[in-house]
Amino acid sequence: MIAKRQACVIGWPIDHSRSPLLHGFWLEKYGIPGRYDRIPVRPEDLSDFLHGFRARGLVGGNVTLPHKEAVFRQVTVRDPLTAKLGAVNTLYFEDDTLCGTSTDGYGFVASIEQEVPDFTFSGARVTILGAGGASRSIIGVILEAGAQKISVANRSLARAEQLRSDFGPQVIPMEWGRAEDVLPGTDLLVNTTSLGMAGKAPLTIDLAGLPGHAVVSDIVYVPLTTPLLTAARARNLRTVDGLGMLMHQAVPGFERWFGIRPEVTPELRALLEADIEGRRL
Ligand SMILES: NC(=O)c1ccc[n+]([C@@H]2O[C@H](COP(=O)([O-])OP(=O)(O)OC[C@H]3O[C@@H](n4cnc5c(N)ncnc54)[C@H](OP(=O)(O)O)[C@@H]3O)[C@@H](O)[C@H]2O)c1
Repeated sequence: MIAKRQACVIGWPIDHSRSPLLHGFWLEKYGIPGRYDRIPVRPEDLSDFLHGFRARGLVGGNVTLPHKEAVFRQVTVRDPLTAKLGAVNTLYFEDDTLCGTSTDGYGFVASIEQEVPDFTFSGARVTILGAGGASRSIIGVILEAGAQKISVANRSLARAEQLRSDFGPQVIPMEWGRAEDVLPGTDLLVNTTSLGMAGKAPLTIDLAGLPGHAVVSDIVYVPLTTPLLTAARARNLRTVDGLGMLMHQAVPGFERWFGIRPEVTPELRALLEADIEGRRL
């Protein structure tokens, strides 16, 4: 009999996580005798949990709020980009060592590449709204992909300035209210703030200055169509919602744990869309 490989997502709370739906879809699709569960872990229990990770029979997993930074400090980080981020969202074993990595930035780039195939990061002028954890992961990867200039507007300017210190002079910090000034020279606009999320205030920015070729992306995925994306579509700009990033960030973890690189397909998107919209397929 083939042993069942087990992975999980840890967080506190964890009920909201869509990762089991996503990984469960791939396990079934590829006929893999594995499982993927939600495991609630209180912050005070995190160290014990990580020490007992292998003993529980787990081969890896995902990490969500509020544990991303604390786990980073307690596992081995082997890739230089994740070392710069200070947070991990994916756990895996290399030999017997529990390692952590961040796949959010990869997920963002893969999602843009899949949904806007003619967009190229090499030489791109990108404007990012927000300077939190997701912004940091995206900046690291799009710089590696060749972005020319990344303007970062954030409510707390100091956080955007820190990104320049960490990633270099291609990152241009700016006050929140100045974002519209750089839109005429923007090829890709990305919202990484929580504005526009269900229950939060909408993001209000006048998109009139964006050139017609610009792509607008919102990494918020509840709701799928945020006020920012509605405004971009009203201007006939190409848009990318946050669901692609969610699906693609899960690919490297699944491959490490279960040995197959899974595909992000319209069927998977339809399943998650239905879940987000509270429908049954
Ligand atoms: N699609 C995906 O796969 C994916 C992955 C990761 C995250 N996300 C989404 O991305 C969003 C950010 O996540 P995160 O982990 O980066 O969070 P975070 O580290 O807490 O950062 C939050 C960001 O939002 C800004 N912000 C919050 N309230 C604001 C307001 N009222 N006005 C202006 N700016 C405000 C913060 O600005 P300050 O610095 O001034 O506080 C900061 O830049 C969340 O909605 C999350 O669900 C999506």
